[in-house]
Amino acid sequence: MYSKILGTGSYTPETVRTNADLEKMVETSDEWIVERTGIKERRIAGADETAATMAYKASLKALEAANLTANDLDLIIVGTSTGSYAFPSVACELQKMLGTTGQGAFDLSAACTGFNYALTVANSFIQAGNAKKVLIVGSDIMSRTCDPTDRTTIILFGDGAGACILGASEEPGVYSANVKADGSHSELLKLPTIDRNNPESSYLYMKGNEVFRIAVNTLSSLVVNTIEENGFQKSDLKWLVPHQANLRIIAATAKKLGLPMEQVIVNLDKYGNTSGASVGIALDEGIRSGKIKRGDLILLESFGGGLTSASALIKY
Ligand code: COA
Repeated sequence: MYSKILGTGSYTPETVRTNADLEKMVETSDEWIVERTGIKERRIAGADETAATMAYKASLKALEAANLTANDLDLIIVGTSTGSYAFPSVACELQKMLGTTGQGAFDLSAACTGFNYALTVANSFIQAGNAKKVLIVGSDIMSRTCDPTDRTTIILFGDGAGACILGASEEPGVYSANVKADGSHSELLKLPTIDRNNPESSYLYMKGNEVFRIAVNTLSSLVVNTIEENGFQKSDLKWLVPHQANLRIIAATAKKLGLPMEQVIVNLDKYGNTSGASVGIALDEGIRSGKIKRGDLILLESFGGGLTSASALIKY
């Protein structure tokens, strides 16, 4: 038993935060941000938006694309670090908004690899015969987690949600979906939960240049191993759908695969790093733009806090 992608959807908020806007907030420049990261704009959630409301909008599009209703779902998994509550989970809020009930619904915490981690769990449920149709969503409001006066983080992150429905299939589909972690570097990238005695202490902390170095090394071997372990050649790959953290990390990963940038889905110039949502949004945009076609071999990869990393090799 395999799983395959039945439909995808995504949502990004209306409000745009440009590099020019950031020049007014912190000591930085459009030139520095574009050169070091590739980011030009990010979307910022409105005061009335939450990880759950964004997940809902992305999920409706995925359901429509898959020609399903929420009652068809056997399981809902949301990768997020920015839910409104420890409980209920974003997944349970989402279930309520979708007007369905009964199926399992839970969040998982894997920072920027949230979408890939959710995909791996969904794939395992389907392969084990425990679910036939699973909604996975990555949804994060990272803009609220960054200190607005910290130029090393506020420039990087934006808000959004990416959704995908995986369904049981007799053919691949998903050839492999794997998760990895290295907790020994956990201190390099941290998002504290709110200390109710000291709410100011809860901003995101990142040692950017060290995370950068580990990300490049980890992803370079991860993508090559994923291709080889599944008996494919690099040249079989049609599209790389990478986590959208930094254009230089993406370019280094593509180079390792011998893949021209024309075969890489890049949208971080518009959205920045949307954490758990990033791969889901990129996948949806790649499909809706007509770039990724049925039958194409695609590789999803991500890297994030934990430190976590993950990949998925999929025939769309
Ligand atoms: N504008 C202008 N200058 C800035 C700046 C900004 N927004 N942010 C940092 N700087 C300065 C630093 O203070 C430093 O100055 P110094 O040399 O005088 O000390 C200089 O730029 C270089 O800083 P450094 O942190 O070494 O830059 P970098 O080339 O590593 O780029 C990141 C910084 C954050 C863009 C990069 O490290 C990165 O993308 N890291 C990975 C982030 C990531 O992927 N995180 C999430 C994982 S999912």
